[in-house]
Amino acid sequence: MNHRDRLLGFLKARQGSWVSGAWLSGELGVSRTAVSKHIRRLRETGYPIATATRKGYRLEGVPDLLEPAEIRDGLDTTILGRGEIHCLRVTDSTNRQAKILAQRGAPEGTLVLADRQTQGRGRMGRSWDSPPGGIFLSLVLRPILPPFEAPAITLLAGVAASETLVHLTGLDARIKWPNDILIKGRKIGGILTEISSEMDAIDHVVMGIGFNVNLTAEDLAPEVRPFATSVYIGAGREFSRVTLIQEFLKRFDRDYARFQTEGFSAVRQRWKALTDIIGRRVRVEMIGRVCEGVVADVDQEGVLILEDEVGAQCRVISGDVVYV
Ligand code: BTN
Repeated sequence: MNHRDRLLGFLKARQGSWVSGAWLSGELGVSRTAVSKHIRRLRETGYPIATATRKGYRLEGVPDLLEPAEIRDGLDTTILGRGEIHCLRVTDSTNRQAKILAQRGAPEGTLVLADRQTQGRGRMGRSWDSPPGGIFLSLVLRPILPPFEAPAITLLAGVAASETLVHLTGLDARIKWPNDILIKGRKIGGILTEISSEMDAIDHVVMGIGFNVNLTAEDLAPEVRPFATSVYIGAGREFSRVTLIQEFLKRFDRDYARFQTEGFSAVRQRWKALTDIIGRRVRVEMIGRVCEGVVADVDQEGVLILEDEVGAQCRVISGDVVYV
């Protein structure tokens, strides 16, 4: 841990109390000038730190800052977010940044976060509106799996995302196959999983997720407003993005480890308990064809099984689902 993060740790441990510069300088083994330089940087980052002569420094509160030190503090994972964490104030797309890092050899579990995206991407070439207050998160994964198993990572992330929302906010989050997280039929989150592979081996996967967290109705783009919602709108209060991210990472980390040995079966029953799609009549637009029918099941590989009036089955590996 670097000096800045250790200093922050000392202030947090004594939050609301004065900590002298002399004590900090002794603990860190750096000069008092270096301490005051770190304090200035922490303040610039957004930490409310009071200063008083002869008293020292006092941390007045911990803001909801997406900073590597905040994400690491209490993070309960084995792979995800254990190594590189990149927290960006603004970027084009965290998925794009994660992909660049992956191509340069970033290890499994590398995490990219942003406060805001200018070119957030959704599935099927759509854009993802990304104003401040949301969570925009991408992970570099390097699963040792055949490429055809990778799409189930979206379903796995959907389970972790929905369970995180239910657990922390009490909202009734539901999954719409394959990548939508809904509250009362309105979209609160979405997942975009992008794979880079050879015919028979995955090089890397970037799993990106966006959550509408502390957004008011006005923060949502007018064109998505009728179909979207946020944690703030649903629960009536703000939530810590850091806590939501840590909870999502913890849940996804556990399921991802099991997924690598058990496949989608590791979460299939939980996925089915979190969706309303089974038994619904849907139309699915796939590349080159359209299938319509009632959703009979989601199989052990995460494939959607539709059945038409005469009992003929259609297996949907990827596509856009519309309830009809
Ligand atoms: C969708 O619902 O179509 C998927 C939306 C995925 C959005 C997230 S936000 C973080 C990551 N970076 C992106 O550009 N997209 C994903």
